[in-house]
Amino acid sequence: MSSLNRTKILLGITGGIAAYKVPALVRLLLANGADIQVVFSANAHHFVTPTAIQALTGKPVRDNLWDAEAELAMGHIELARWADLILITPATANSIAKFANGIADDLLSTLLLASEVPVLLAPAMNQRMYLHPATQSNLQRLSAFGYSFIGPDSGEQACGDEGPGRMSQPEAICEAVIQAVSDTNQPHASTSGNWLITAGPTQEPIDPVRYISNRSSGKQGLALAHAALAAGGNVTLVAGPGVPASNPRINRIDVITAVDMHAAVHRALTDIDVFLGVAAVADYRPTAAAEQKIKKTQKADDLTSLPLTENPDIIASVVASGSAKCVIGFAAETDNTLQHAKDKKQRKGLNAIILNDVSDQSIGFDSHQNAVIFIDDNGATSFEKQPKDRLAERLVHEIISRFDVA
Ligand SMILES: Cc1cc2nc3c(=O)[nH]c(=O)nc-3n(C[C@H](O)[C@H](O)[C@H](O)COP(=O)(O)O)c2cc1C
Repeated sequence: MSSLNRTKILLGITGGIAAYKVPALVRLLLANGADIQVVFSANAHHFVTPTAIQALTGKPVRDNLWDAEAELAMGHIELARWADLILITPATANSIAKFANGIADDLLSTLLLASEVPVLLAPAMNQRMYLHPATQSNLQRLSAFGYSFIGPDSGEQACGDEGPGRMSQPEAICEAVIQAVSDTNQPHASTSGNWLITAGPTQEPIDPVRYISNRSSGKQGLALAHAALAAGGNVTLVAGPGVPASNPRINRIDVITAVDMHAAVHRALTDIDVFLGVAAVADYRPTAAAEQKIKKTQKADDLTSLPLTENPDIIASVVASGSAKCVIGFAAETDNTLQHAKDKKQRKGLNAIILNDVSDQSIGFDSHQNAVIFIDDNGATSFEKQPKDRLAERLVHEIISRFDVA
């Protein structure tokens, strides 16, 4: 039996140069037994012709929400219901921005909003467009909706630039579609263990309106949670304040303080294969948070010192509990980074530590990019500067293979 066995694929093509590769992809999907209906964005016409696509699929390309004849034959909502899976390739920066914001101003974006089936996108664009914070945060939003991505690949681009943003090859896209269809048919099979991940900062109240916190955005922890989910893991995310929305298939617990995070982690700590402590947990909290807002007019003496109490060491307590097979921490360091990270790994008894050199302002905190060194008992592996979601995928695969997570 063919692997796509009459799976109904709604294939969206948007206005990117890589659209010229889509006819080859259509042939591969058809050869694997897919039933394909292609929908063009208005700008896709500049890159590939409906005639070429129609000759392959045997169906007219749909491209217009206002085509009365096509609407009568199969209305747009009916078309959204028809699909078992939506694949958009190439997905331009513009279309990704529209999808991330729920804009429905043409047939393809309207179909996407009207559908509940799995969505796969193969982004393709110039590397600067891909690395732009607007595109990166749009991609994170789409991840949180549960959409999956194929690629993009890195390398030489049509415009002459070098970097990430090339559309994946038709063979890789076809393979990802076959995998997604097989995953959908066994939706609850966990193939990559139980993951417990902390992300973001904590806030330690001084009074009802003020707190001590740090610059962590939670993006790297969130990206790791999405990557572990995509790899087939069951994921629980304990998220500090301000961590962006996560995929609804992630079991998310929102907390504010380090003490709350510690309690939430220990409640979730049963049968965990991988604990990833990515959160930037405050080491200290004000000993007594004032119940009322502290006034500027209060005596200066009272305001010049703030007694602090040490917070629980969450990651060390996870190691001590023995309830996680593999415990991995993050070290954000600014000086003598490798030595500090190795010391921390040793001191806390971690299986591995992921070192983030935050003295480089273009990576780490607040940024969409990161570069890290993964250190375990077998040595250190460097991961060059790249978008946090790509890095997360690579780290999750590294962890799965090094620690035999299943
Ligand atoms: C020659 C050419 C190639 C382009 N290639 C891409 C591309 O690969 N990716 C992309 O995001 N935009 C690309 N663009 C820009 C998009 O076509 C433009 O943003 C358009 O508004 C996208 O519309 P759509 O998303 O509705 O299809 C290209 C534009 C031109 C003129």
